[in-house]
Amino acid sequence: MKAILCNEWGGPEVLEVKEINTPQPNENELLIKVKAVAVNYADLVMLKGQYQTKPDFPFGPGLECAGEIVSFGKNVKKFKTNQRVLAKIPHSGFAEYTIANPEFTYEIPENMPWEHAASFFVAYVSSYTAIKYQGNLLPNQKLLVLGASGGTGLTAVEIGKAIGAQVFAAASSQKKINIIENYNPDYTINYKDNNLKNEIKNLTGNKGVDVVFDPVGGEFFDQALSSLDWGGKYLIFGFVGGIPQIPSNRLLVKHRSAIGCSLRFFENHDKEKIHTSIKKLFEWYESGLIKPFISELFKLEDAQKALNILKDRKATGRIVLLI
Ligand SMILES: NC(=O)c1ccc[n+]([C@@H]2O[C@H](COP(=O)([O-])OP(=O)(O)OC[C@H]3O[C@@H](n4cnc5c(N)ncnc54)[C@H](OP(=O)(O)O)[C@@H]3O)[C@@H](O)[C@H]2O)c1
Repeated sequence: MKAILCNEWGGPEVLEVKEINTPQPNENELLIKVKAVAVNYADLVMLKGQYQTKPDFPFGPGLECAGEIVSFGKNVKKFKTNQRVLAKIPHSGFAEYTIANPEFTYEIPENMPWEHAASFFVAYVSSYTAIKYQGNLLPNQKLLVLGASGGTGLTAVEIGKAIGAQVFAAASSQKKINIIENYNPDYTINYKDNNLKNEIKNLTGNKGVDVVFDPVGGEFFDQALSSLDWGGKYLIFGFVGGIPQIPSNRLLVKHRSAIGCSLRFFENHDKEKIHTSIKKLFEWYESGLIKPFISELFKLEDAQKALNILKDRKATGRIVLLI
C-alpha cells in the first residue's frame, strides 16, 4: 500500500511517499481502508518530535481518518466489514490502510461524506469537551473564541452557538472573518487591526466574557485574559502563536480560572465523556446545527503541500486528503 512516512524529525519536507506492506490488526484492533484523512496542527508538532507522544520511525502523520472496515481481531465484537466509520488513531493515517482502536472508532451517519467524517473527531470532540466539561458554558453566557477561522476555532464557534451562548469570534484578517460569518457568531473582531480587550469591553458594556477558548496563545493571550469578566474561565487549548506565562495576580483579582483542556485527558482518563460528546455532535450534525468547513481537498501524494498551508498560517477550517 501507499503511505506517507518520515524517518527523521523535521518539517513537512522530511515526508516521503513509500510503498509498504499493509499492516495487519492484532486481536484487539481494526484495519480500515482509508477514504479520507484530516490534516491537523498536531501532525506538524509530532513530525518535529515535539508532541506528547513520539512514535518509532518510520511513522506517518494522520491522527484521524474515515473509511471502511476491512478486517478485525477476534476480540473486536461490535463492528462488521465494510462498515463506514471514523476513527481517532495514534498516527499514520496518511496511508491507504491504517490500524484503529475500536474504542475510538465510530459508525458514521448515513449521509456523512468522507471528508466531513475524517475531519470530525479532533476539532469537534476536543473543542466540545473543552467548552462543555472544562468551561461549563451555559446558554446566554458569553464565549470569546481566538483563531476563530481555524480548525478548532471554527468548531468552537459552532459549539458555542449550538449551546445557545453569545459568541464573540476573533481572527487576524477580513478574509478569515468572512468565513467565520457563515457560522453566525454574534460579533466578529479583527484582532490584528483592533485592540481585542477594548473591543470586548465596548461590546459587553465593560463587563467582559464568561469563557475564553484559546487555541492560539502568544501575543493575544494578555488582551484575552483582560477580556474575562468576574469568575470567568480561560480555556488553555493550544499554543500555535507561542506559550504564554500566566500572571496569577490577574486571576486572583477577578476570581478567574485558567484551565488546561486536553483531548488526551479524556482519551486516557474519561472515555465516557468522549462517547457522550460524539453522540451529541452526531445529533447536531444530522439536524444541521453544525457543519464542518473543508477549505481544501488534496490527494495523499500532496501531503507536504497540505501541511505547509497549516504551517504558514494560511489554513481556514479543515484540510483533508482524499485517498
Ligand atoms: N487541547 C486539545 O485537546 C487540542 C485539540 C486539537 C488541537 N489542539 C491545538 O490547538 C491549536 C490550534 O489547532 P487548529 O487545528 O485550530 O489549528 P489551525 O487550524 O492552524 O488554527 C490556528 C489559528 O491560530 C492562529 N494563529 C496565530 N498565530 C499563528 C501561527 N504562528 N501559526 C499558525 N496559526 C496561528 C490562526 O488564526 P489567526 O490568523 O486568525 O490568528 C489560525 O487560524 C494547535 O496548537 C493544536 O495542537 C489542541
